[in-house]
Order: sequence, then structure tokens, then C-alpha cells
Amino acid sequence: MQPFKLERYFAQHEFSAEVLMSSSDCESLSLETLLNLCDPETEHLWKNLSLGYTESQGLPLLRAEISTLYTRVHPDQVITLAPEEGIYIAMRTLLRPGDHVICLAPAYQSLYQVAADSGCQVSLCWLRQTTSGWQLDPQQIKDLIRPNTRMLVVNFPHNPSGFLPSRALFEKIIDLAAQHNLILFSDEMYRLLEYKTEDRLPAACDAYPNAVSLGGLSKSMSLPGLRAGWLAARNREWIQSFQRYKDYTTICSSAPSEVLAVIALRAREEIVQTNLGIIRANTALAQAFFAHNATWLEWIPPLAGPIALPHYTGPGSVDEFCLSVLQQQNVMIVPGSMFEMEGNYFRVGLGRKNLPEALRRLQTYLDAAA
Ligand SMILES: Cc1ncc(COP(=O)(O)O)c(C=O)c1O
Repeated sequence: MQPFKLERYFAQHEFSAEVLMSSSDCESLSLETLLNLCDPETEHLWKNLSLGYTESQGLPLLRAEISTLYTRVHPDQVITLAPEEGIYIAMRTLLRPGDHVICLAPAYQSLYQVAADSGCQVSLCWLRQTTSGWQLDPQQIKDLIRPNTRMLVVNFPHNPSGFLPSRALFEKIIDLAAQHNLILFSDEMYRLLEYKTEDRLPAACDAYPNAVSLGGLSKSMSLPGLRAGWLAARNREWIQSFQRYKDYTTICSSAPSEVLAVIALRAREEIVQTNLGIIRANTALAQAFFAHNATWLEWIPPLAGPIALPHYTGPGSVDEFCLSVLQQQNVMIVPGSMFEMEGNYFRVGLGRKNLPEALRRLQTYLDAAA
């Protein structure tokens, strides 16, 4: 398989750079904080947990909790797995060599790379920077559809741009998928982090019978170390085929993570509100910072989620800029080239408490460079 550029970049710098400015997840929870959110049932489960193998489809109590996130999905239409594993398994089971796949771009690489490396033809449908921020033209998707197109891959709220379509645009996308009998793979890892609740889209698996939704606790719920995620689909045969494939990846999920995931999902309102508070404060700070440094930087407001994709307008390329900020200020910034993007864009994480420190160091860098 092709190297996963972004993950290799993180592997190189994540644990050596002093400050990360481009993280996509929200401030991580400690085990102690999470356990303080237990109710009597989950406290009993945690204290009496046996560290044996677990049910391959996922702990029934966890699947029941996950199904409350949806309106038309029952616990038996859910399988738990690590989020990245979910992408891999869904692509490997639902696609055949020669199928054509359309994926919104820029994208988290595995959303198209697994298909490409499985012998599928892949077309990327690029979001564009407009005067009203990052936008998606549904006509572009339509123009890419071929007779052998089998799957459309979307990700809302979007990593790395923070794009979220309106309800009307989302419905257009579903209509297109339905008209052409496409499977809709919908990566919803950043769901629940909409800035206004009324902007939240229905989960794809509720809105369209031929959809599979990917969810997980890594981003909106601050728990990437649990490796807890799931696939939800109304098609029970798909869920069974995902389970058969999982026998060759992890067999079953981690017992402690499953119980911790139940605790987190039951406390999701509190966890998500804390994260939205951090995102709001960081967004206001970033906006002011970018306005102050307008000769070098252009802010492109995100519409949802913990990530923004602004524009670098200073001298040289954005890759040179990121490298030099890392060398001089020990701040790690992810350039758009990690997403195969043209143009000088870079990713900013808005969900971490260290953004003020990252911006202070970046200001020192910019003041020295000016
Ligand atoms: C859009 C998207 N999907 C899936 C994943 C994978 O999540 P995890 O790292 O928890 O496996 C990520 C992680 O960055 C992501 O951004």
C-alpha cells in the first residue's frame, strides 16, 4: 500500500515537537476524568471487568448505546472496531477491483487509498476555496459519475477544511447517490461538533438505506487512545461481512475500551459541550491572530468541527513555512501537501488547549521573519 502521508508526518513529529498546532482531535480526557462520569451500572461493569476476549460484533450494551445516536439503526446493525479499521474493512468488503469510487477531497488518505490499492479506479472531487469559504459543487460529483461507479465517499464535518454542507446540499448528494444506486460511505468522525445544533445533518445511515456511517470516540469525544469506533448500516448483510473480515484484523474490540466507550457515550453531552467551548475560544483567538498577520495568513472560517484549513500567503511555499516554524519554534504544523493539495494551505487544530501557546510562538516567528 502507498504510505499514509499524514500519519507518517505525525509519526515523525508528534512526540518530538514541543507544540502541535494541527491536531484533529479535541483535548484528550484522562482515565480519571472519564471514570468520574460513571453511573452505577458502568461503575459496576468497570470494577468487575474480565479481561477476556469480547463479542466480535461488539459489547451489546455498547452497541445499544451507539444505536441511540441514530433513528433507524438497531444495535444489530452496528459493529464496533477501531475507526481506521472501519474504513479498511468497509472498503475491502464493499468494493471489487475495477469498481469506480468518488471521494471528496482533500481527504483523510485512507478514505480513497484503500480503494485505490485494492484495484479500484478513484476520482477525487475537490472542495474549492470561494469568497464564502470552502465549498462543494454537487455538479462536480455528478460529472464524475461513470457506469461503474459503485461508491461515493464523504466526510462531514470535514477533515481538513471544517466544511459542512447545508441540509439542502446534503439531500442533493443523497439524491445523486440514490439515482445512480451508489453506496454512500459517510465518515462522521467529527459529528456532534456542529457549532449550532440545528446545523447537524442526519447520519447517512438514517437518511439513505444504501449508506454506511463511520463513527467513533477519537475526535468529538476526546478519546483517541481507546481506539473505539463503529460502522452502522441498515444493510445487515454488510454488517455480517464486516464481522467476517474483522476476524482477520482484530477479531474483537478491547474489553476495557468497550466499557469506557459506554461511559463516554452516556456522558456525551457534557464531553461535547466542553470541547465546543474550547473550539469557540480558539476560533476567536485564531481569527484575531490571522487578521493581525494578514500579509502572511488568510483565515478561512470552518463551518463545523475542530479543524480549519487557512491559506498561507507569505513568501515561499507552505511546506517551507511549516518546516521553518518547526525548526525555529518547535511548533508542528501540517501543510496541505500531506493531503495532496495544490496551493498553500495548512491545517489548524481548534480543539486543543495549547493553541494559544502555538499562536504565541508563531507570532514570534512571524515578527522575526517580517
Ligand atoms: C476523517 C477521519 N476519519 C477517520 C479517522 C481515523 O480515526 P482513528 O485515528 O481514531 O482511527 C480520522 C483520524 O484522523 C479522520 O480524520
